[in-house]
Amino acid sequence: MILIGPPGSGKGTQAQRLEQLLGAVHLSTGNVLREEIAAGSRLGNAAKTFMNSGQLVPDQLAVEVVAAFMKRGGSDTDYILDGFPRTTNQAEELDRILDERGLAVGKVVEIHTDDEVLMERLTGRFGCTKCGEGYHKSFKRPKIDGVCDKCGGAEFDVRSDDKEETIRDRLGVYHSQTAPILPYYAKKGLLVRVEGDKSMAEVTKEIETILTDGR
Ligand code: AP5
Repeated sequence: MILIGPPGSGKGTQAQRLEQLLGAVHLSTGNVLREEIAAGSRLGNAAKTFMNSGQLVPDQLAVEVVAAFMKRGGSDTDYILDGFPRTTNQAEELDRILDERGLAVGKVVEIHTDDEVLMERLTGRFGCTKCGEGYHKSFKRPKIDGVCDKCGGAEFDVRSDDKEETIRDRLGVYHSQTAPILPYYAKKGLLVRVEGDKSMAEVTKEIETILTDGR
């Protein structure tokens, strides 16, 4: 399954909620690239400037992340792709990678959300430094303030690209480069749309229904 949506639409949140329910592996190209930057790797160094300015990294780097990740999985692994593909070229490369592994795209879920909602979500977001669990200062606080629900960690951080100006650039990039790939999947009959401004639980329920009913 592919989750497509603008920054802050809830791709990561929904992927985390769905991975256990579906027994699938969550692959966020953004998370992998941030880990590579933290590790100071060749890939991280090549991606850093693009990510900090809210631009897409070159297709070749994003494709490299996905191909390497899938190589480590079995041929029967199901994936939830969060943040990939983001260009038509990436969508075509994904078909090639999956085809080589005897896999295919199942559903493509567009999480449609208005830009005004997204700004509030992204400027209030923080995450656990240790395990990466995502939170929001209004919509999803840890059960005990200052303690991560998932791993008990006590340190949290804010993403370097969650500054208002960079968020605007990321939204612009989504509308100009990523939204245009939606017709690619619509033509294949794989695209479904959910409204991302509902509660997290309602969005999850809708995606689950789509997957079980095959609508
Ligand atoms: P990436 O990490 O993928 O960031 P993004 O697409 O900008 O998306 P976000 O992670 O910001 O938002 P999200 O939709 O996951 O929302 P979330 O669930 O966190 O990519 C970062 C960068 O990496 C890119 O800019 C690019 O440079 C590079 N990159 C990555 N992939 C690439 C690719 N394929 N090609 C080229 N470059 C690539 O939710 C946001 C907040 O809202 C959270 O606090 C959450 O708690 C809250 N929230 C979520 N859902 C709800 C809800 N329903 N109600 C209330 N609050 C909610």
